[in-house]
Amino acid sequence: MAYFSSVPVFITLFLLNNAVSGATCGIKACPVTKLNMINVHLVPHSHDDVGWLKTVDQYYYGSQNKIQHAGVQYILDTVVEELLKDSKRRFIQVETFFFSKWYAEQNATVQRAVQKLVAEGRLEFAGGAWSMNDEATVHYQSVIDQFNLGLKYLNDIFGDCGRPTIGWQIDPFGHSREMASIFAQMGYNGEFFARMDYVDKKKRLEDQGMEMIWQSSESLKDSHIFTGMLYNHYSAPPGFCFDINCHDAPIIDGESYDNNVDQRVNDFIDYVKTMSKSFRSTHIMVPMGDDFQYEEAAVNYKNMDKLIKYVNDRQSKGSQVNVFYSTPSCYLHELHQLQQTWPNKTEDFFPYSSDSHSYWTGYFTSRPTQKRFHRDGNHFFQTVKQLSVLANLTSTRHSEDLESLSQAMGIMQHHDAVTGTEKQAVARDYDRMLFKAIVDAENNARDALRSLTNLTSGEFESCLELNISVCSFTQNSANNVVVTLVNLLAHTSTQYVRIPVKSDNYIVTDEKGREIPSEVVPVPWQVLAMEHRSNDTQHELVFEATVEKIANFLIRVLPSPKSNVQNLIHFPTEKALDESDELTVENSLVKLTFNTTTGGLKTIEMNGLTETIDQSFGVYKGFRGNNGEAKNRSSGAYVFRPDGGFEKLNNKVGISFYNGTRVKEVHQHVNEWISQVIRVYQGDNRVEFEWLVGPIPTEDEVGKEIVIRFSSNISSKGIFYTDSNGREMLERERNQRDTFNPDMSEAISGNYYPVTGQISLQDDEVRITLLNDRAQGGTSLKDGELELMLHRRLLNDDAFGVGEALNETQYGTGLIARGKVSLIIDEASKKPNHAERLVQHEIDQPFWKFFSKSNRVPSVNKNMIPDFTDFPPLVELLSFEQHSEDHILIRVENFNTNGNVVSFNIYPLFSSLSGYKIWETTLDGNMKLGDMKRYKFNQDGIGSIPSSVEYFYAPHNPMSSDYTMDASEFVVTLVPMQIRTFIIQQKNIVY
Ligand SMILES: *[C@@H]1O[C@H](CO)[C@@H](O)[C@H](O)[C@H]1NC(C)=O
Ligand SMILES: *[C@@H]1O[C@H](CO)[C@@H](O)[C@H](O)[C@H]1NC(C)=O
Ligand SMILES: [Zn+2]
Repeated sequence: MAYFSSVPVFITLFLLNNAVSGATCGIKACPVTKLNMINVHLVPHSHDDVGWLKTVDQYYYGSQNKIQHAGVQYILDTVVEELLKDSKRRFIQVETFFFSKWYAEQNATVQRAVQKLVAEGRLEFAGGAWSMNDEATVHYQSVIDQFNLGLKYLNDIFGDCGRPTIGWQIDPFGHSREMASIFAQMGYNGEFFARMDYVDKKKRLEDQGMEMIWQSSESLKDSHIFTGMLYNHYSAPPGFCFDINCHDAPIIDGESYDNNVDQRVNDFIDYVKTMSKSFRSTHIMVPMGDDFQYEEAAVNYKNMDKLIKYVNDRQSKGSQVNVFYSTPSCYLHELHQLQQTWPNKTEDFFPYSSDSHSYWTGYFTSRPTQKRFHRDGNHFFQTVKQLSVLANLTSTRHSEDLESLSQAMGIMQHHDAVTGTEKQAVARDYDRMLFKAIVDAENNARDALRSLTNLTSGEFESCLELNISVCSFTQNSANNVVVTLVNLLAHTSTQYVRIPVKSDNYIVTDEKGREIPSEVVPVPWQVLAMEHRSNDTQHELVFEATVEKIANFLIRVLPSPKSNVQNLIHFPTEKALDESDELTVENSLVKLTFNTTTGGLKTIEMNGLTETIDQSFGVYKGFRGNNGEAKNRSSGAYVFRPDGGFEKLNNKVGISFYNGTRVKEVHQHVNEWISQVIRVYQGDNRVEFEWLVGPIPTEDEVGKEIVIRFSSNISSKGIFYTDSNGREMLERERNQRDTFNPDMSEAISGNYYPVTGQISLQDDEVRITLLNDRAQGGTSLKDGELELMLHRRLLNDDAFGVGEALNETQYGTGLIARGKVSLIIDEASKKPNHAERLVQHEIDQPFWKFFSKSNRVPSVNKNMIPDFTDFPPLVELLSFEQHSEDHILIRVENFNTNGNVVSFNIYPLFSSLSGYKIWETTLDGNMKLGDMKRYKFNQDGIGSIPSSVEYFYAPHNPMSSDYTMDASEFVVTLVPMQIRTFIIQQKNIVY
């Protein structure tokens, strides 16, 4: 608990009330501006990475300063001290992880002082999530969760004044439309960032397009949000960095030969005038800060005080520049008041390129196992949250363990964590932290399941290495093992379950004692051959399970062998070329054909369509330069820069065929370090490709990036689709961007986009979709062709700061990664397909498996499972969790992309949770939806500008009902893709 012990779990309400009284935060605290002048909003800030070159604790405490000088605790110490000295000074705090750690260490005097600063709008929170999350490789569920966490903390400590209204995503390497949509749904007024394609930025500087109205969702109305691109990265103007780590001169205003006031004021005014030419209004925002600045805040504030004084003194001589301390929310308030119009933005800001050879598309894939681990973390987090609510676990210990996992997941979303752009030692620390949080939260899952089933002493252990068919619980015999499956979905689900086992003869029975048909499938020898893997489990037991919420299955070893794994047929690799040699793999829904000479896939038939599919693995060789100039940039953790094109790896692959009744698998051996299982399950309308890549060889001193590619005859005309953080799909056009002509010097990496959940393409008849299991880079370089980058091992740093080559090793050799891609071929459809999204959701959150020893099948205490039966088929449960002591948070999401509005009644669920009251909140769960009021801006071309400023309010009448009301007051209506968030306060809580 070293990380999190200090953060209170549930803060009592009176503290909150204390905080709000007499508040003058928000626009009441905004500086007075001047008409007919350039109003310069100086925004003091510090960009504090939640881990990057140092671990989160090293950054917090300021240890390991030889790696990077940075100590966040001192930043907060000194900033607070300096703010207290002058009521005009301002500071914005962004990362709530660091803030909460610091605040918990303060004595009551300091805490009271901080309360005052916040209540008076002198210390303001921007962003406010646990970390400043990445936007390319995160999943929307985790982003929502980490905002929920950060904003809840701020609300508990500071009340309304602690609630941020501005998104501050200044460092992530490109920006997603879904993130903007999430900000809109949380009621934020706008967001700011500092990185976009350099050609796009150049154009926007020229045509005053730096600030715009982003139409952040195709399906949600009222999703327009003000979006501002910063002028000079997120740094102070050149020459005006007053931080102790900078070398710029201070303002010297004394009797001195070195007095530089005139010069500095001239320089600043010149800068401001140049800058303001690129912005539409009479206000400009100038951030004053950078990475880990303000460690001795007195130096910063003393010089900013002087700068403000001397620049404004010039007004008496006719200067039109007015400068003052401000915050992003005050800046945006002024813009909103101006009633100007702003350009539109519809697509997103990917990929980001910073010069003609630097497309930041490598990080979409960097550290593939860490990217997968954080998705496992999310999966388990959701599982434990649901189980804790069902079992009503509210002890301090349980709450703390769940809170730790929540915080670990918040940290993992950081733009140097899930991105894979941190140093190796920091990556290990993230893994350690998340692993520990998962292990601690396993206690919650166990305690919950002990009360939710009648197996009151069950172990309910999780196995975290199922991806390589390892589970300590089943490795010896798997006799009399109970598997408890937990279904996170709102609806009863039927899925195939795979359990690593040792022998090959088992019987599976359900709660009613009925035998469930099962079979045993061999684990590919390439997995068995992994050096560090204990080789006890050579098989996987496969059976089909139908689970409402929780179901138990008993596995027993049969006394005498029933069958052996005799269904496995090997095809010799060396054979005479004979085109007619074909292997057909067929079940009732899907038919695959393979060329047994090359070992490759030929065709896929499903949903009444037959498509030629050539599937291959390929390598891009990483460019190695000396990084001196752009053209010498190496491929690295951030940047994908191939040296030449795709080189196909599998001209001839060895194959074996396992012809089971429920599952059919083709095991392909591509080369010494790539293999794959292609499988189809009976009744499952998709094809699964489970790849195994690594150790990527580097004996030739060449870094390599490995991709999987599917080529079809679909004439996609340069168009393909990728998801935005796992939600809406965006259309991509090869070599094109929506608002500018990109520099395509890097024609391959410049066409890479983040794929968190799916990538697809189509022509008039056929559509092909790939669903992945973690964030990856993906593209379509030719019509009909889809490609995902699976793994990267590089030998050079790309000179964007991490200072290490992305050369992951494990057990003394290159890291091995394993994962899955699912493929669906279906009829073309105009809009993204919701069925695919549901499959994606199911793949993302399959049944979680818990293991116990028992010789009987336990039963589930059904009376503890609430009623989800009224949820329409396309409505999913996005969150189901304890919000505070007697409050449960529920998020429901309509997965329908193009269909009708759906409605259902939430009363049965409310009632089965002993609901007393239910109300609706913004997406983060912390503000009543009825209180939402966010800025509405005018877009170019709207015609006449309204006579007074406008706002967006709740997009519908927010629910607010209690148990005395008629069930008709509990109807939930969801437009396509809508998410609604509810808090249910429970009855019968004794204080
Ligand atoms: C609280 O902490 C501050 C800063 O560390 C210190 O200056 C002050 O003396 C402390 N006050 C009390 C009452 O301990
Ligand atoms: C911007 O979008 C609005 C609303 O979608 C539309 O009315 C307007 O014409 C657009 N303006 C431009 C310049 O595209
Ligand atoms: Zn950063």
